[in-house]
Amino acid sequence: MFNASIGYRDGVLMCDGVAAPSVAEACGTPVYIYSLRRVRANLERIRAAFAALNPHIHYSVKANANQAVLRSLIAAGAGIDAVSGGEIYRALRAGAQPHQIVFAGVGKTPAELRYALEQGVGWFNVENVEECRWLNDLAGQLGRSPVRVALRFNPQVAASTHRHIATGHGGAKFGLTAEAVRFLLEAQPDYPQLRFEGIHVHIGSQLQDTQATVQAVQAARELIAPYPGVRTVNIGGGFPVAYRAGDPLPDAAAFAAAVAPLLAGYQVLLEPGRALVADAGLLVVSVLYVKRQAGQTFVVTDGSMAELLRPALYDAYHEVVPVRQPSVSAPPLEVVQVVGPVCESADALAHDRRLPPLQPGDRLAVLTAGAYGMVMASNYNQRPRPPEVAVAEDGLTWSIVRRRETWDDLLRLEMDV
Ligand code: LLP
Repeated sequence: MFNASIGYRDGVLMCDGVAAPSVAEACGTPVYIYSLRRVRANLERIRAAFAALNPHIHYSVKANANQAVLRSLIAAGAGIDAVSGGEIYRALRAGAQPHQIVFAGVGKTPAELRYALEQGVGWFNVENVEECRWLNDLAGQLGRSPVRVALRFNPQVAASTHRHIATGHGGAKFGLTAEAVRFLLEAQPDYPQLRFEGIHVHIGSQLQDTQATVQAVQAARELIAPYPGVRTVNIGGGFPVAYRAGDPLPDAAAFAAAVAPLLAGYQVLLEPGRALVADAGLLVVSVLYVKRQAGQTFVVTDGSMAELLRPALYDAYHEVVPVRQPSVSAPPLEVVQVVGPVCESADALAHDRRLPPLQPGDRLAVLTAGAYGMVMASNYNQRPRPPEVAVAEDGLTWSIVRRRETWDDLLRLEMDV
């Protein structure tokens, strides 16, 4: 088993009680499949790990915004971390309580701020002095005060992760410097519609160790210590997921233990995304061709960087496995490049993988694809985006929760057709 929900049974890759090949048969490929049971189990694991701090958990919608996933997490009591008006809209449509939403983002537009205020969003994570001014004025105009604000602090701590997903170092566009945070806290009377009650610090995603987080939370605590009105610390998300079996990563409990001594007496907010959904999702693809040239074997599949961008964008590693395990008498494994049909050399799902000999029509599953998969999919090369299938918490019922796009969908928004 890759985890409690995803693994082989009698040689067939299962998502809980549902066979991945039968979903692929019914829906075609590429197709995303999610285990809602796994999503819920991940939420419970983080909740248990942080139990001593009694945190509010706000699921980071950017990781996977499908309504079925949102509904499942909301029903289990999760709040929402949204970074755009669109994410707030989706969360509300999925049944989120507005006051359970935190609204973050480095470039919120006036229209988004207005929408969030009108909807009664619970927290604004502010990263810009100008944004405070706009928010204060809008809240006054709309009669929506007081507005709860957490100032996003850039602690100038370099997280150990891929450079594209580190956010807490000095050169990053994210957050406010310590000086700016202090300046705003001192200037609270100038923002009568706002209540600076929280500090927010998120230093990156897929964090490889807890040290940088501890440093960041420590710095945040020192910063707010003179301001008794700041009672909430939002430590963001970033809890890592093992993309390779046995990756030596700290688990949520390690993060909780590391930060707990710093957070006694504060209300704690968390914003996990990946840790809730990544290992609950698969992308099933079919082999189109096997091409041997230039000393390499290219397995060309119908899945590409348009459906799963992470390998092309971050050199990310995702396990790729056959949906049917080869029999013991099968020929030996071969080292292959798993690539897609898109016209980019970066278009690969996996490099130098040992897979059983493959034929056109064979199906492969890309694992740990539930986070930053479908949400980052595009129509590049005019590829309709794939369907999403959710396996319900009973482990047996599955349904298409977003249908495959069609060629007509590709033209739907154009005005002159
Ligand atoms: N809170 C804030 C303020 C964030 O910026 C993020 C992620 C999260 C929470 C959730 O982080 P998580 O728990 O998922 O690590 N596309 C990239 C990841 C980008 C993360 C952006 N911010 C990837 O595929 O690895």
